[in-house]
Amino acid sequence: MANMSCWTSLYGDWFDAERILFEYFTMGSGGFHDAVAQPLQQVDRVVNSIPLKGDLLIAYGISTGTHLLFPACNNFKEIIVVDFLDRNIQLIEKWQKKDPKTFSWKRAIECLYENEEEREKWFEREEKTRTIIKQVVRAEFTEEAMHAPPSLPQADCLFSPFFLNHLCPTKEAFATSVKNMSSMLKVGGHMLMHVFIGATFFMQGNFKLPMFCIDEESVKKVVSKSGFVILETEMNKRVNPKFSTFDFTAIMFLFACKERDV
Ligand SMILES: C[S@@+](CC[C@H](N)C(=O)[O-])C[C@H]1O[C@@H](n2cnc3c(N)ncnc32)[C@H](O)[C@@H]1O
Repeated sequence: MANMSCWTSLYGDWFDAERILFEYFTMGSGGFHDAVAQPLQQVDRVVNSIPLKGDLLIAYGISTGTHLLFPACNNFKEIIVVDFLDRNIQLIEKWQKKDPKTFSWKRAIECLYENEEEREKWFEREEKTRTIIKQVVRAEFTEEAMHAPPSLPQADCLFSPFFLNHLCPTKEAFATSVKNMSSMLKVGGHMLMHVFIGATFFMQGNFKLPMFCIDEESVKKVVSKSGFVILETEMNKRVNPKFSTFDFTAIMFLFACKERDV
């Protein structure tokens, strides 16, 4: 049976966030609704209607998902991004420096918001997000722990969009990773998570990368056992059944509050 280090090395060899952005995240590609439009609206609603506020937000495995940080840019003083792959870390740094060759969110914002004022608001949010990401930290999740610098402070909020299915080949590894994330959050802090339901693979070009297939109830059980109270879940069935390079059946959005250390 596969273990986490085996998947990590597979992702290390193959997963290329910049390529995935061009393959799945552009308007008209199979993933635009599921990976850009829908999660952006969910995160914006939760973060800004409550609103969630604090000093520090930690975001795991963001790489292709920098847009999901835009809604939180005025609510937190600092964002720390954590990933294990140098090229995915560099992608974020290139976007921060506005490298003209890097994937741009401008087109996505223009497609999503027709109103000029609304567009301007999102362009400003992108700009602000660039500046409040103060650290991009190289750290790897393993079965044992998250190998992050011990100096990393506990956060007021955790983001984990579309992250865990890619590195946890078993339910045990999934549970360990949620516990590891929980340890990085203050009691009373919040976690926002997107999980693919029913996925076993996705294609990057001609290469098939494995995904951990999990159901809604199992995700809820794991999160509850890791010290969280679940405040909201939303299940969204995939909108594009013809999109054959990725076999997920639904996307689960989960919003939880940490009530105790585990
Ligand atoms: C599919 S991407 C995340 C998608 C993105 N968050 C989004 O919203 O579109 C998975 C991320 O997890 C990172 N990753 C995979 N295995 C990891 C591990 N063992 N430890 C830390 N990061 C890992 C990858 O480098 C990649 O950036």
